[in-house]
Amino acid sequence: MLDKKMNLHSFKAKKGKEKITSITAYDALMAKIFDGEVDMILVGDSLKMSFGGESETLGASMEEMIYHTKAVCKGVKYSFVIADMPFGSYATKDMALTNALRFYKETATDAIKLEVGLEKLDIVRSLCDEGIAVMAHIGLKPQFMRFDGGFKVKGKEETQAKELLQTALAMQEAGAFGILIEGVKSDVAAQITESLEIPTIGIGAGVDCDGQILVWSDVFGFFDEFKPKFVRRYLEGKNLLKDAIRAYASDVKNKAFPHSQESY
Ligand code: KIV
Repeated sequence: MLDKKMNLHSFKAKKGKEKITSITAYDALMAKIFDGEVDMILVGDSLKMSFGGESETLGASMEEMIYHTKAVCKGVKYSFVIADMPFGSYATKDMALTNALRFYKETATDAIKLEVGLEKLDIVRSLCDEGIAVMAHIGLKPQFMRFDGGFKVKGKEETQAKELLQTALAMQEAGAFGILIEGVKSDVAAQITESLEIPTIGIGAGVDCDGQILVWSDVFGFFDEFKPKFVRRYLEGKNLLKDAIRAYASDVKNKAFPHSQESY
């Protein structure tokens, strides 16, 4: 349990000392429960899938991400908060700066995350030069799923593995404080982690990353339409909630709720 607020310095200082723990959250209620139990909370655009019922993340808007980031920040006192920049919000340097500044001015987020390749290097550099903390998301990039033709594991071929390493090193040089590695072969993610001074956070990228992240509705068994290989379930949330809603509905039907003690 954290006893003081995690900041950029304490986050980076964990590299090589202690694994970094993280999870997503999209509202104050969940953020309050997770706060301090994990080092980092990501307001991911995965909310479009797990909560919005969509099959991809591309529809997330700035307004939605700002709304959810504000809510998460309201629930957090200790963990480091990162907000996802939605698809299309960092297409050019000017757009990236305008939208990243909105996150900083309108919410209390500690940092932002962008899905990147080398083509985004100048954008990442200009954000960092402006004092914005950037986490660079490489590997399987959900915002590129239409372009890639689905969610595809990366780093299987040598040229792709080399490109991932080159991208991670370039992002570090441009000022990124961390690299999120998604859906990448474990040995490639391990090599990237070893080559960097900044921490890597993995999702489907093996045990050697500096930390791990999972989407909360996956980990706690609320989203069960499919379970990616990299997800471990720590709760059967959907089943528990189903039992509870059935018990409540049955009590109402049978006039077992409310009791006299629950009435005025
Ligand atoms: O949007 C998200 O939740 C993410 C995680 C999958 C890392 O980017």
